[in-house]
Amino acid sequence: MIEVRGLKKSIRNGTRTVEILKGIDLVVPAGEFIAIMGASGSGKSTLLGLLAGLDTPTEGQVLLDGTEISHLAEDELAQVRGRKIGFVFQSYQLIPTLTALENVLLPHELNSSGDGLERSRNLLRSVGLGDRMHHYPVQLSGGEQQRVALARAFVVEPPIVMADEPTGNLDSTNGEHVLSLLLDRNRETATTLVLVTHDPAIADRADRRIVLRDGLILSDDRRVNHSNEDHR
Ligand SMILES: Nc1ncnc2c1ncn2[C@@H]1O[C@H](COP(=O)(O)OP(=O)(O)O)[C@@H](O)[C@H]1O
Ligand SMILES: [Mg+2]
Repeated sequence: MIEVRGLKKSIRNGTRTVEILKGIDLVVPAGEFIAIMGASGSGKSTLLGLLAGLDTPTEGQVLLDGTEISHLAEDELAQVRGRKIGFVFQSYQLIPTLTALENVLLPHELNSSGDGLERSRNLLRSVGLGDRMHHYPVQLSGGEQQRVALARAFVVEPPIVMADEPTGNLDSTNGEHVLSLLLDRNRETATTLVLVTHDPAIADRADRRIVLRDGLILSDDRRVNHSNEDHR
């Protein structure tokens, strides 16, 4: 579902060039739940941004579902991104002037056809926000905002969901709620989940864990007890 070849990212900083990613190769099969770990500054967010086509690589390629996105024109890239990826940010990134329902509906209106309104309502109900549909982000708690962001990420039924420390701003109860919604969707719809996290307990629930260090993959491990899904 995701294939990365020789991915490098450098940033020019005055006269110096800083290498953030130094050559990443990675294949993520459809349906896999992969956790990306590593110390702060190791390149996790940069990698996720490149996988999602939110940023362009200095060298190398990213293929999503067979489409090479690294050199697409902006409008083509927006189409691929809009249909293939639901992205969840640590800081929710809801549009403040839209209600919860309007936030969820927006990607559907941009990328899909059919009854988006009913689907958006159903999704908000499924994340426990049936009574918050007409609230604005400022009227919602952090946990509620992140659940709206999940509904928004799911609304086009993308084959891939990517999340960058989605529970990083939440207390443990709200974090667990958001995490279980992400994992439930991964399991129930067999879609691919790429999750950046600092939390080893979260990574333990993944099918596979990669650890980045200084812009390189330090380790890449699949969970041995793969058939035992009970403790997820
Ligand atoms: N736009 C940028 N300009 C300069 N340095 C950057 C930029 N973006 C990221 N970096 C640097 O690249 C490294 C990796 O950043 P990031 O991918 O955000 O790491 P992580 O998400 O693992 O904490 C850090 O040292 C960061 O300071
Ligand atoms: Mg980060």
